[in-house]
Amino acid sequence: MIKLSPSILSADFMKLGEEIKILEREKIPYIHIDVMDGHFVPNISMGFPIVDSIRKETELILDVHLMIDNPEKYIDNFAKAGADIINFHFEAASNPEKIIEQIKATGKKCGITISPDTPAEKLFGLIELVDMVLVMSVYPGFGGQKLIKSSLDKIRIIYDYIKKNNLNTDIEIDGGVKMNNVREVLEAGVNVVVVGSSIFKAENIALEVEHFNDIFKEFDNR
Ligand code: DX5
Ligand code: ZN
Repeated sequence: MIKLSPSILSADFMKLGEEIKILEREKIPYIHIDVMDGHFVPNISMGFPIVDSIRKETELILDVHLMIDNPEKYIDNFAKAGADIINFHFEAASNPEKIIEQIKATGKKCGITISPDTPAEKLFGLIELVDMVLVMSVYPGFGGQKLIKSSLDKIRIIYDYIKKNNLNTDIEIDGGVKMNNVREVLEAGVNVVVVGSSIFKAENIALEVEHFNDIFKEFDNR
């Protein structure tokens, strides 16, 4: 099943609780939470208190995307705050295997993420150790950017690797996904789709989510 993971980076933080309730009513499975440190990326966003507050309000799966240096220092805190999936950046990890072990030791799901300039092949040998591969289709740091088309080629390479090795790893895409390019994204092999601005800047969030879900249904039986 293809799943939507709305990124709250573009949410109205004064209305975050209400907006999450809309997602719950629409039976969205995940909430994508972007954590930025102002070092790994040139922006600062949110941290443990937000994850903790959201955890208290919802049972939805919290898909936490760490865009931070030294992720090993903070993984245990994010696990305690209530993350369900912890994604770290390959580029921020001096020893990715060790970070994967650390995340797994918390009992949470583990995702590894690559930025647009990192070749897909760098993940060979690591994909079999994780639950999810997150392919960034924009340079991490900001919502509302345009999808970089070459990331779809990387998704195809990762998809083939997963099939060839009989794995059932999720492939998530993040950045610039809109109604007018989501079919192309799904055709490349993605099964978890992060959407930020297109959902939270929409006049009617519920309707926008329903439109995405209608398109997902076309792909569910492939
Ligand atoms: C960017 C973040 C994304 C972002 C996506 O660094 O990781 O999750 O919120 O937003 P859109 O869908 O607007 O590109
Ligand atoms: Zn993200």
